[in-house]
Amino acid sequence: MLQTKLAQLHQAVAERNAQQLLRQAVTVEHYNGRLITIGGQQYLNFSGNDYLGLATAPEVLQAYADGALKYGAGSTGSPLITGQHTIHRQLTDTLSDWLGVERVLLFSSGFAANQAMLQVLAAKSDTLLLDKLSHASLIDGALHSAASMKRFAHNDIDALAKLLQQAPQSMVVTEGVFSMDGDSPDLAALHSLCQQHKVPLLLDDAHGLGVQGAEGQGSAPAQGIENSELFCLMANFGKALGVAGAFLGAGKTVIDYIEQFGRHYIYSTGLSPALCAAVLKSIELCRSEHWRRDKLHSNIEKFRMLAADLPLMSSGTAIQGVILGSSEQAVNASSQLKKSGIWLTAIRPPTVPVGSARLRITLSSQHSDDDIAMLVKKLRRLSL
Ligand SMILES: Cc1ncc(COP(=O)(O)O)c(C=O)c1O
Repeated sequence: MLQTKLAQLHQAVAERNAQQLLRQAVTVEHYNGRLITIGGQQYLNFSGNDYLGLATAPEVLQAYADGALKYGAGSTGSPLITGQHTIHRQLTDTLSDWLGVERVLLFSSGFAANQAMLQVLAAKSDTLLLDKLSHASLIDGALHSAASMKRFAHNDIDALAKLLQQAPQSMVVTEGVFSMDGDSPDLAALHSLCQQHKVPLLLDDAHGLGVQGAEGQGSAPAQGIENSELFCLMANFGKALGVAGAFLGAGKTVIDYIEQFGRHYIYSTGLSPALCAAVLKSIELCRSEHWRRDKLHSNIEKFRMLAADLPLMSSGTAIQGVILGSSEQAVNASSQLKKSGIWLTAIRPPTVPVGSARLRITLSSQHSDDDIAMLVKKLRRLSL
Protein backbone atom coordinates (compact mmCIF):
# COMPACT_ATOMS: atom_id res chain seq x y z
CA MET A 1 0.00 0.00 0.00
CA LEU A 2 2.73 2.46 1.05
CA GLN A 3 4.82 1.77 -2.08
CA THR A 4 1.74 2.06 -4.33
CA LYS A 5 0.80 5.37 -2.76
CA LEU A 6 4.33 6.77 -3.20
CA ALA A 7 4.40 5.56 -6.82
CA GLN A 8 1.09 7.37 -7.51
CA LEU A 9 2.41 10.61 -6.05
CA HIS A 10 5.65 10.34 -8.01
CA GLN A 11 3.75 9.65 -11.23
CA ALA A 12 1.47 12.68 -10.80
CA VAL A 13 4.46 15.03 -10.36
CA ALA A 14 6.29 13.45 -13.32
CA GLU A 15 3.19 14.02 -15.50
CA ARG A 16 3.04 17.68 -14.51
CA ASN A 17 6.69 18.01 -15.41
CA ALA A 18 6.19 16.37 -18.82
CA GLN A 19 3.36 18.84 -19.54
CA GLN A 20 5.61 21.84 -18.70
CA LEU A 21 3.30 22.53 -15.75
CA LEU A 22 5.67 21.86 -12.87
CA ARG A 23 5.55 24.65 -10.29
CA GLN A 24 8.70 25.51 -8.40
CA ALA A 25 9.17 28.14 -5.73
CA VAL A 26 12.12 30.47 -6.24
CA THR A 27 14.01 31.87 -3.29
CA VAL A 28 14.11 35.65 -3.18
CA GLU A 29 17.38 36.89 -1.73
CA HIS A 30 16.50 40.58 -1.70
CA TYR A 31 13.55 42.78 -2.63
CA ASN A 32 13.18 46.54 -2.41
CA GLY A 33 9.77 47.16 -3.97
CA ARG A 34 11.17 47.52 -7.50
CA LEU A 35 14.18 45.24 -7.84
CA ILE A 36 14.33 41.59 -6.87
CA THR A 37 17.44 39.40 -6.42
CA ILE A 38 17.10 35.70 -7.21
CA GLY A 39 19.99 33.25 -7.69
CA GLY A 40 22.51 36.07 -7.22
CA GLN A 41 21.00 38.08 -10.13
CA GLN A 42 19.09 41.34 -9.83
CA TYR A 43 15.93 41.81 -11.90
CA LEU A 44 13.36 44.51 -12.45
CA ASN A 45 10.32 42.96 -10.80
CA PHE A 46 6.95 42.78 -12.57
CA SER A 47 5.52 39.89 -10.53
CA GLY A 48 4.10 40.08 -7.01
CA ASN A 49 1.21 42.00 -5.51
CA ASP A 50 2.96 44.83 -3.68
CA TYR A 51 1.05 47.39 -5.77
CA LEU A 52 1.79 50.40 -3.54
CA GLY A 53 5.34 49.52 -2.45
CA LEU A 54 4.22 49.21 1.16
CA ALA A 55 5.95 45.85 1.78
CA THR A 56 9.28 47.66 2.13
CA ALA A 57 8.12 51.13 3.32
CA PRO A 58 10.52 52.06 6.17
CA GLU A 59 7.63 53.17 8.43
CA VAL A 60 5.92 49.78 8.04
CA LEU A 61 9.14 47.91 8.81
CA GLN A 62 9.73 50.08 11.88
CA ALA A 63 6.15 49.50 13.07
CA TYR A 64 6.69 45.74 12.69
CA ALA A 65 9.87 45.86 14.80
CA ASP A 66 8.35 48.19 17.43
CA GLY A 67 5.19 46.08 17.44
CA ALA A 68 7.17 42.93 18.22
CA LEU A 69 8.93 44.63 21.13
CA LYS A 70 5.79 46.22 22.51
CA TYR A 71 3.09 43.60 21.86
CA GLY A 72 5.00 40.36 21.16
CA ALA A 73 5.80 38.15 18.19
CA GLY A 74 3.00 35.64 18.68
CA SER A 75 -0.57 36.00 19.86
CA THR A 76 -0.30 32.77 21.92
CA GLY A 77 -3.74 31.38 21.14
CA SER A 78 -6.99 31.41 19.28
CA PRO A 79 -8.71 34.83 19.36
CA LEU A 80 -11.38 33.39 21.65
CA ILE A 81 -8.79 32.17 24.19
CA THR A 82 -5.74 34.48 24.55
CA GLY A 83 -5.07 35.41 20.93
CA GLN A 84 -6.83 38.78 20.77
CA HIS A 85 -4.71 41.65 22.14
CA THR A 86 -5.20 45.43 22.26
CA ILE A 87 -3.47 45.82 18.89
CA HIS A 88 -5.93 43.39 17.24
CA ARG A 89 -8.81 45.54 18.53
CA GLN A 90 -7.10 48.65 17.17
CA LEU A 91 -6.79 46.96 13.80
CA THR A 92 -10.43 45.83 13.63
CA ASP A 93 -11.63 49.29 14.76
CA THR A 94 -9.44 50.97 12.13
CA LEU A 95 -10.74 48.64 9.41
CA SER A 96 -14.36 49.31 10.43
CA ASP A 97 -13.76 53.05 10.34
CA TRP A 98 -11.81 53.04 7.05
CA LEU A 99 -14.13 50.71 5.17
CA GLY A 100 -17.44 51.69 6.73
CA VAL A 101 -18.39 48.19 7.94
CA GLU A 102 -19.98 47.52 11.30
CA ARG A 103 -17.79 44.62 12.48
CA VAL A 104 -14.57 42.93 11.40
CA LEU A 105 -12.95 39.54 12.16
CA LEU A 106 -9.28 38.84 11.49
CA PHE A 107 -7.99 35.66 9.80
CA SER A 108 -4.53 34.25 9.23
CA SER A 109 -4.95 34.33 5.44
CA GLY A 110 -7.34 35.29 2.68
CA PHE A 111 -7.64 31.61 1.85
CA ALA A 112 -8.91 30.84 5.36
CA ALA A 113 -11.21 33.91 5.39
CA ASN A 114 -12.84 32.90 2.08
CA GLN A 115 -13.29 29.33 3.27
CA ALA A 116 -14.94 30.58 6.45
CA MET A 117 -17.16 33.08 4.60
CA LEU A 118 -18.67 30.50 2.25
CA GLN A 119 -18.68 27.43 4.48
CA VAL A 120 -20.24 29.22 7.41
CA LEU A 121 -22.73 31.52 5.71
CA ALA A 122 -24.14 29.13 3.09
CA ALA A 123 -26.77 26.67 4.33
CA LYS A 124 -27.86 23.39 2.71
CA SER A 125 -30.89 25.02 1.14
CA ASP A 126 -28.76 27.76 -0.53
CA THR A 127 -27.13 27.83 -3.94
CA LEU A 128 -23.80 29.62 -4.16
CA LEU A 129 -23.46 31.39 -7.51
CA LEU A 130 -19.79 32.01 -8.27
CA ASP A 131 -18.13 33.80 -11.17
CA LYS A 132 -16.42 31.29 -13.47
CA LEU A 133 -12.98 32.79 -12.74
CA SER A 134 -13.33 32.80 -8.96
CA HIS A 135 -10.18 32.25 -6.91
CA ALA A 136 -9.40 28.69 -5.73
CA SER A 137 -10.15 29.66 -2.11
CA LEU A 138 -13.72 30.64 -3.05
CA ILE A 139 -14.28 27.50 -5.10
CA ASP A 140 -12.97 25.29 -2.31
CA GLY A 141 -15.02 27.21 0.26
CA ALA A 142 -18.15 26.63 -1.81
CA LEU A 143 -17.32 22.95 -2.38
CA HIS A 144 -16.79 22.43 1.34
CA SER A 145 -20.05 24.15 2.27
CA ALA A 146 -23.39 22.42 2.66
CA ALA A 147 -24.84 24.50 -0.20
CA SER A 148 -24.86 23.57 -3.87
CA MET A 149 -22.70 25.59 -6.24
CA LYS A 150 -23.21 26.92 -9.75
CA ARG A 151 -20.82 29.05 -11.79
CA PHE A 152 -21.85 31.90 -14.09
CA ALA A 153 -19.94 33.09 -17.16
CA HIS A 154 -17.24 35.57 -16.20
CA ASN A 155 -18.66 39.02 -15.36
CA ASP A 156 -21.85 38.14 -17.26
CA ILE A 157 -24.80 39.80 -15.52
CA ASP A 158 -27.37 38.25 -17.89
CA ALA A 159 -26.06 34.73 -17.20
CA LEU A 160 -26.27 35.45 -13.48
CA ALA A 161 -29.82 36.80 -13.83
CA LYS A 162 -30.88 33.52 -15.49
CA LEU A 163 -29.37 31.46 -12.66
CA LEU A 164 -31.10 33.65 -10.08
CA GLN A 165 -34.44 32.90 -11.70
CA GLN A 166 -33.77 29.15 -11.49
CA ALA A 167 -32.43 29.25 -7.91
CA PRO A 168 -34.12 32.03 -5.92
CA GLN A 169 -32.44 31.05 -2.64
CA SER A 170 -28.95 32.00 -3.79
CA MET A 171 -25.89 33.88 -2.60
CA VAL A 172 -23.81 35.68 -5.24
CA VAL A 173 -20.02 35.60 -4.97
CA THR A 174 -17.58 37.63 -7.03
CA GLU A 175 -14.27 39.48 -6.88
CA GLY A 176 -13.53 43.21 -7.02
CA VAL A 177 -10.51 42.66 -9.28
CA PHE A 178 -9.90 39.22 -10.78
CA SER A 179 -6.49 37.97 -9.81
CA MET A 180 -5.36 36.54 -13.15
CA ASP A 181 -7.25 38.78 -15.62
CA GLY A 182 -7.17 42.09 -13.73
CA ASP A 183 -10.71 43.02 -14.80
CA SER A 184 -13.66 43.93 -12.56
CA PRO A 185 -17.39 43.20 -12.60
CA ASP A 186 -19.96 45.97 -12.89
CA LEU A 187 -20.61 45.98 -9.14
CA ALA A 188 -23.42 48.55 -9.34
CA ALA A 189 -25.33 46.30 -11.78
CA LEU A 190 -24.57 43.19 -9.71
CA HIS A 191 -25.67 44.91 -6.53
CA SER A 192 -28.93 46.09 -8.02
CA LEU A 193 -29.62 42.60 -9.47
CA CYS A 194 -29.01 41.08 -6.02
CA GLN A 195 -31.31 43.67 -4.44
CA GLN A 196 -34.00 42.94 -6.99
CA HIS A 197 -33.82 39.23 -6.13
CA LYS A 198 -33.26 39.93 -2.41
CA VAL A 199 -30.11 37.79 -2.30
CA PRO A 200 -26.80 38.48 -0.55
CA LEU A 201 -23.73 39.73 -2.45
CA LEU A 202 -20.35 38.51 -1.16
CA LEU A 203 -17.17 40.16 -2.41
CA ASP A 204 -13.53 39.06 -2.40
CA ASP A 205 -11.64 42.33 -2.82
CA ALA A 206 -8.11 40.99 -2.32
CA HIS A 207 -6.77 42.98 -5.29
CA GLY A 208 -9.01 46.05 -4.88
CA LEU A 209 -8.32 47.00 -1.26
CA GLY A 210 -5.81 49.83 -1.02
CA VAL A 211 -5.77 50.40 -4.76
CA GLN A 212 -9.35 51.30 -5.71
CA GLY A 213 -11.31 54.18 -4.19
CA ALA A 214 -10.23 57.64 -3.05
CA GLU A 215 -8.52 56.36 0.12
CA GLY A 216 -8.13 52.79 -1.09
CA GLN A 217 -11.42 51.57 0.44
CA GLY A 218 -11.78 49.10 -2.40
CA SER A 219 -13.71 48.18 -5.50
CA ALA A 220 -17.25 48.65 -4.20
CA PRO A 221 -16.78 52.28 -3.03
CA ALA A 222 -14.84 52.98 -6.25
CA GLN A 223 -18.01 51.97 -8.14
CA GLY A 224 -20.38 53.96 -5.93
CA ILE A 225 -21.46 51.08 -3.63
CA GLU A 226 -20.81 51.31 0.11
CA ASN A 227 -18.92 48.36 1.58
CA SER A 228 -21.74 48.22 4.12
CA GLU A 229 -24.17 47.37 1.29
CA LEU A 230 -22.34 44.08 0.73
CA PHE A 231 -23.50 41.08 2.72
CA CYS A 232 -19.87 40.23 3.47
CA LEU A 233 -16.51 41.63 2.33
CA MET A 234 -13.25 39.68 2.31
CA ALA A 235 -9.90 41.33 1.73
CA ASN A 236 -6.36 40.51 2.73
CA PHE A 237 -3.30 42.35 3.99
CA GLY A 238 -0.80 40.54 1.78
CA LYS A 239 -1.47 42.40 -1.48
CA ALA A 240 -1.52 46.23 -1.64
CA LEU A 241 -0.96 46.54 2.13
CA GLY A 242 2.25 44.54 1.75
CA VAL A 243 2.04 42.39 4.90
CA ALA A 244 -0.08 39.18 5.41
CA GLY A 245 -3.35 38.04 6.98
CA ALA A 246 -6.93 38.92 6.10
CA PHE A 247 -10.35 39.93 7.42
CA LEU A 248 -14.06 39.56 6.90
CA GLY A 249 -16.12 42.73 7.29
CA ALA A 250 -19.91 42.95 7.47
CA GLY A 251 -22.88 43.96 9.61
CA LYS A 252 -22.98 42.86 13.24
CA THR A 253 -25.36 39.93 12.71
CA VAL A 254 -23.20 38.35 10.00
CA ILE A 255 -19.93 38.74 11.90
CA ASP A 256 -21.46 37.63 15.22
CA TYR A 257 -22.54 34.45 13.43
CA ILE A 258 -19.11 33.78 11.87
CA GLU A 259 -17.49 34.40 15.25
CA GLN A 260 -19.63 31.64 16.78
CA PHE A 261 -19.55 29.11 13.93
CA GLY A 262 -16.43 29.89 11.85
CA ARG A 263 -14.07 27.00 12.51
CA HIS A 264 -11.20 28.74 10.61
CA TYR A 265 -11.52 31.58 13.10
CA ILE A 266 -12.21 29.67 16.30
CA TYR A 267 -9.65 26.89 15.94
CA SER A 268 -6.70 28.90 14.62
CA THR A 269 -3.98 30.96 16.31
CA GLY A 270 -4.68 34.69 16.19
CA LEU A 271 -2.56 36.92 13.96
CA SER A 272 0.85 37.94 15.27
CA PRO A 273 0.51 41.20 17.26
CA ALA A 274 3.68 42.56 15.57
CA LEU A 275 2.07 41.91 12.19
CA CYS A 276 -1.07 43.81 13.26
CA ALA A 277 1.11 46.82 14.14
CA ALA A 278 2.68 46.68 10.68
CA VAL A 279 -0.75 46.40 8.98
CA LEU A 280 -2.02 49.40 10.98
CA LYS A 281 0.92 51.53 9.79
CA SER A 282 0.43 50.29 6.26
CA ILE A 283 -3.26 51.31 6.33
CA GLU A 284 -2.28 54.75 7.63
CA LEU A 285 0.17 55.25 4.74
CA CYS A 286 -2.26 53.78 2.23
CA ARG A 287 -4.97 56.25 3.26
CA SER A 288 -2.78 59.34 3.49
CA GLU A 289 -0.08 58.91 0.82
CA HIS A 290 -2.23 59.46 -2.23
CA TRP A 291 0.87 59.68 -4.42
CA ARG A 292 1.17 55.88 -4.24
CA ARG A 293 -2.22 55.29 -5.90
CA ASP A 294 -1.72 58.23 -8.29
CA LYS A 295 1.65 56.90 -9.47
CA LEU A 296 0.29 53.36 -9.83
CA HIS A 297 -2.62 54.59 -11.94
CA SER A 298 -0.36 56.70 -14.12
CA ASN A 299 1.92 53.66 -14.59
CA ILE A 300 -1.10 51.58 -15.65
CA GLU A 301 -2.12 54.23 -18.20
CA LYS A 302 1.42 54.55 -19.50
CA PHE A 303 1.83 50.79 -19.87
CA ARG A 304 -1.46 50.40 -21.75
CA MET A 305 -0.65 53.29 -24.05
CA LEU A 306 2.85 52.03 -24.92
CA ALA A 307 1.75 48.37 -25.23
CA ALA A 308 -1.51 49.04 -27.10
CA ASP A 309 -0.42 46.87 -30.05
CA LEU A 310 0.41 43.81 -27.87
CA PRO A 311 -2.18 41.07 -27.09
CA LEU A 312 -3.21 42.70 -23.80
CA MET A 313 -6.21 41.56 -21.84
CA SER A 314 -8.85 44.15 -21.11
CA SER A 315 -7.87 45.53 -17.70
CA GLY A 316 -7.57 48.96 -16.14
CA THR A 317 -5.89 47.68 -12.97
CA ALA A 318 -2.37 46.87 -11.80
CA ILE A 319 -2.79 43.32 -13.15
CA GLN A 320 -2.08 43.27 -16.88
CA GLY A 321 -2.19 39.99 -18.77
CA VAL A 322 -0.48 39.24 -22.07
CA ILE A 323 -2.06 36.05 -23.40
CA LEU A 324 0.37 33.71 -25.14
CA GLY A 325 -1.64 30.46 -25.39
CA SER A 326 0.46 27.41 -24.69
CA SER A 327 2.41 26.74 -21.51
CA GLU A 328 5.60 26.31 -23.59
CA GLN A 329 5.21 29.80 -25.07
CA ALA A 330 4.59 31.34 -21.66
CA VAL A 331 7.60 29.60 -20.07
CA ASN A 332 9.78 30.49 -23.05
CA ALA A 333 8.72 34.18 -22.89
CA SER A 334 9.36 34.30 -19.16
CA SER A 335 12.87 32.87 -19.57
CA GLN A 336 13.73 35.30 -22.41
CA LEU A 337 12.63 38.20 -20.21
CA LYS A 338 14.69 36.82 -17.35
CA LYS A 339 17.78 36.83 -19.57
CA SER A 340 17.15 40.50 -20.28
CA GLY A 341 16.84 41.42 -16.59
CA ILE A 342 13.05 41.30 -16.11
CA TRP A 343 11.34 39.05 -13.58
CA LEU A 344 7.92 38.04 -14.87
CA THR A 345 6.45 34.68 -13.95
CA ALA A 346 4.56 32.63 -16.54
CA ILE A 347 1.05 31.69 -15.39
CA ARG A 348 -0.12 28.33 -16.69
CA PRO A 349 -3.02 25.91 -16.23
CA PRO A 350 -4.53 24.89 -13.87
CA THR A 351 -4.22 28.44 -12.47
CA VAL A 352 -5.72 29.72 -15.76
CA PRO A 353 -7.82 27.85 -18.36
CA VAL A 354 -6.00 25.57 -20.84
CA GLY A 355 -4.91 27.55 -23.92
CA SER A 356 -4.67 30.86 -22.04
CA ALA A 357 -1.20 30.59 -20.49
CA ARG A 358 0.08 34.11 -20.07
CA LEU A 359 2.45 36.62 -18.68
CA ARG A 360 0.79 38.23 -15.67
CA ILE A 361 2.37 41.63 -15.34
CA THR A 362 1.86 43.46 -12.08
CA LEU A 363 2.59 47.16 -11.99
CA SER A 364 3.42 49.12 -8.87
CA SER A 365 3.85 52.68 -7.67
CA GLN A 366 7.59 51.95 -7.37
CA HIS A 367 8.11 51.54 -11.13
CA SER A 368 9.52 54.54 -12.96
CA ASP A 369 8.45 55.68 -16.44
CA ASP A 370 11.71 54.21 -17.76
CA ASP A 371 10.94 50.84 -16.15
CA ILE A 372 7.60 50.69 -17.93
CA ALA A 373 9.14 51.72 -21.26
CA MET A 374 11.86 49.08 -20.83
CA LEU A 375 9.29 46.35 -20.09
CA VAL A 376 7.27 47.17 -23.21
CA LYS A 377 10.43 47.24 -25.36
CA LYS A 378 11.43 43.77 -24.11
CA LEU A 379 7.90 42.38 -24.55
CA ARG A 380 7.90 43.55 -28.13
CA ARG A 381 11.22 41.82 -28.81
CA LEU A 382 10.07 38.40 -27.59
CA SER A 383 10.46 35.66 -30.20
CA LEU A 384 7.66 33.17 -29.58
C1 LIG B 1 -8.63 36.84 -5.26
C2 LIG B 1 -7.88 36.22 -4.13
N1 LIG B 1 -8.58 35.79 -3.07
C3 LIG B 1 -7.96 35.20 -2.02
C4 LIG B 1 -6.60 35.02 -2.00
C5 LIG B 1 -5.95 34.31 -0.85
O1 LIG B 1 -5.37 35.25 -0.01
P1 LIG B 1 -4.09 34.89 0.90
O2 LIG B 1 -2.91 34.93 -0.02
O3 LIG B 1 -4.07 35.97 1.93
O4 LIG B 1 -4.33 33.54 1.47
C6 LIG B 1 -5.83 35.49 -3.08
C7 LIG B 1 -4.35 35.38 -3.08
O5 LIG B 1 -3.76 34.50 -3.61
C8 LIG B 1 -6.49 36.08 -4.18
O6 LIG B 1 -5.81 36.48 -5.25
